[in-house]
Amino acid sequence: MKQFLIYGLCGLLFLAWFLASGTARGADRLPGLPDGCGTRCHKSKVREQFVHGPVATDDCIACHRPTGKPHPDEQGAFRLVGEREKLCAVCHESKATKKVVHPPVAEGDCLACHDVHQSPYPMQLKAPGADLCFGCHNAKDFSAKHGHAPVAAGHCTRCHDPHQSDNPALLKAPGAQLCFSCHDKALTEGVSVHKPVAEGRCTDCHAPHGSPFPSMLKGEYPEEFYLPYKQANFELCFRCHTRELAQDRRTDTLTGFRNGDFNLHYVHVNRSDKGRSCKTCHDPHAAGQLRLIKERIPGFGSWDIPIHYTKTDTGGTCVVGCHKPKSYDRLRFVTNP
Ligand code: HEC
Ligand code: HEC
Ligand code: HEC
Ligand code: HEC
Ligand code: HEC
Ligand code: HEC
Ligand code: HEC
Ligand code: HEC
Ligand code: HEC
Repeated sequence: MKQFLIYGLCGLLFLAWFLASGTARGADRLPGLPDGCGTRCHKSKVREQFVHGPVATDDCIACHRPTGKPHPDEQGAFRLVGEREKLCAVCHESKATKKVVHPPVAEGDCLACHDVHQSPYPMQLKAPGADLCFGCHNAKDFSAKHGHAPVAAGHCTRCHDPHQSDNPALLKAPGAQLCFSCHDKALTEGVSVHKPVAEGRCTDCHAPHGSPFPSMLKGEYPEEFYLPYKQANFELCFRCHTRELAQDRRTDTLTGFRNGDFNLHYVHVNRSDKGRSCKTCHDPHAAGQLRLIKERIPGFGSWDIPIHYTKTDTGGTCVVGCHKPKSYDRLRFVTNP
């Protein structure tokens, strides 16, 4: 038993000597040679699924400068041929040439996100998907009640370039173009187009990461078509339009939708029972008729009623379903039959 232990110990010592001399010989061969440090001593650098190009080819000396009996050398370090982004720039294009540069990139801190040797994730990333971003950005800001599908899926880089962009907020495309990379442009085409939509300002109304309101809206806007009136229901629209639009029964100024001074927005919207929401008549993006008037409006039942709207210089006419036309005129009150 005692002998076994002694033989075993000797064996281990021999093995240790063998390995140590191997290291030394490998190290001595380093300068100018295909170095073999990866395969001989530092296997741990090539263990993960995604290994950085020059590391995989065992080109350690592309980045490390072995100094004679190299490491640990006098400085006690496996010295690098360049610092921070300058090291990467030996082989990669600069990531800081555009108008907007992500602060960690501007600071040359490539290794905040990339592991220079290897990673279990593609692109040598230190963490997968949004987890990488949440290392510095607050995850809570991206977990709104009504979230956006690509945000919830952690696909931040579908919209943002992680390094740089010529668009604000590192976006991959400007304005509505970004949204049209996934959403149908037809949504925003018609006889009349809402001005902020025509100008590509989708984020005037939608919070791109999500919001407390349905459809990721930036303010309250009812999902129902018919509901008791409350000004607060339409806060989204009142971010840009006057809050008084449907407030006063009579007006000469607040809206063009009036018969004489009789406010027709008030008539339709401001009711304690089945007041109409804006969306019974208007499409928030674009519509087949003037003034964003939809071509069909929902009835109280489950069917949609066609609506035909004609605008005049001083008013207009609506034909709803098979009912008689109803007209309004701002200068001269029209009595409808
Ligand atoms: C593309 C450049 C590059 C290549 C190629 C490279 N390294 Fe490195 N290495 C670095 C950088 C940069 C650091 C400093 C890492 C840090 O600060 O996180 C480093 C650090 C190290 C360290 C010390 C810190 C640690 O992570 O353990 C060792 C050991 C090391 N490298 C070994 C190797 C070996 C072995 C190879 C070849 C198989 C290799 N490196 C190839 C850039 C490189
Ligand atoms: C000695 C040359 C060299 C240096 C220095 C270098 N790289 Fe690379 N890098 C490569 C090669 C080669 C590839 C593989 C390219 C390919 O597969 O198309 C690569 C690929 C990459 C990739 C993409 C991986 C993928 O899956 O496509 C990333 C990310 C990367 N490098 C980051 C860095 C960073 C960050 C630095 C600096 C810390 C750096 N590199 C320094 C040569 C280098
Ligand atoms: C904030 C995190 C972050 C920082 C900092 C960062 N990167 Fe990246 N990098 C990424 C992500 C994420 C990807 C993958 C992009 C994708 O999948 O579309 C990537 C991809 C790459 C690629 C491969 C694709 C390409 O765009 O060419 C290279 C090379 C690269 N990075 C180099 C660098 C260099 C060099 C630096 C420092 C100047 C750097 N990165 C800093 C997050 C970062
Ligand atoms: C190493 C830290 C770090 C990581 C990781 C990081 N960021 Fe940032 N990011 C910052 C800092 C710092 C700022 C500037 C301050 C701020 O807006 O919070 C910033 C700003 C931004 C901005 C606003 C840029 C502008 O000019 O308006 C966007 C967009 C952004 N980051 C997206 C991302 C995405 C997407 C990821 C993941 C791929 C990510 N960040 C990962 C540090 C980081
Ligand atoms: C559908 C596209 C889209 C996705 C996906 C997306 N963003 Fe954004 N992000 C935007 C837009 C658009 C802005 C500009 C907001 C503005 O101008 O009001 C922005 C702005 C930002 C900003 C700047 C500060 C702010 O909140 O305005 C940061 C930081 C940011 N995003 C990080 C992220 C992170 C992290 C993820 C993934 C969890 C992500 N984004 C996913 C579209 C997106
Ligand atoms: C990377 C693809 C992608 C991009 C880019 C994108 N979206 Fe989306 N968006 C989606 C997906 C997927 C859904 C979920 C679709 C569904 O449920 O039918 C969605 C849903 C929505 C919804 C409906 C949410 C709900 O609760 O019903 C709105 C509003 C929206 N996106 C607006 C935008 C805006 C504004 C932009 C531009 C800032 C944008 N999207 C950019 C993929 C994207
Ligand atoms: C004036 C405010 C406003 C602007 C600007 C706006 N939207 Fe909307 N969007 C809405 C409202 C309100 C809804 C909810 C529709 C409903 O409840 O009937 C909506 C719903 C959506 C939906 C969900 C699907 C649907 O049709 O209901 C998508 C997708 C969408 N918007 C994309 C966009 C895109 C892309 C842009 C920019 C081109 C944009 N929006 C600009 C107000 C706006
Ligand atoms: C971000 C600002 C903004 C928001 C929010 C907004 N609008 Fe507008 N809207 C405008 C602008 C700007 C015009 C053009 C005014 C002009 O030409 O004088 C306009 C015009 C209109 C028009 C007249 C269209 C035409 O063809 O003449 C209608 C109807 C309208 N908006 C309805 C709405 C409704 C309903 C909402 C809420 C869902 C809403 N708006 C929210 C900015 C906004
Ligand atoms: C019964 C249909 C109907 C409803 C419901 C309705 N509108 Fe209108 N709205 C119109 C008509 C018709 C016009 C065109 C008036 C004109 O120019 O002759 C109009 C015009 C507008 C305009 C252009 C400026 C003005 O007042 O003339 C805005 C803004 C507007 N509506 C916002 C809203 C908002 C916000 C709501 C919900 C609170 C709403 N509308 C509800 C039919 C409606």
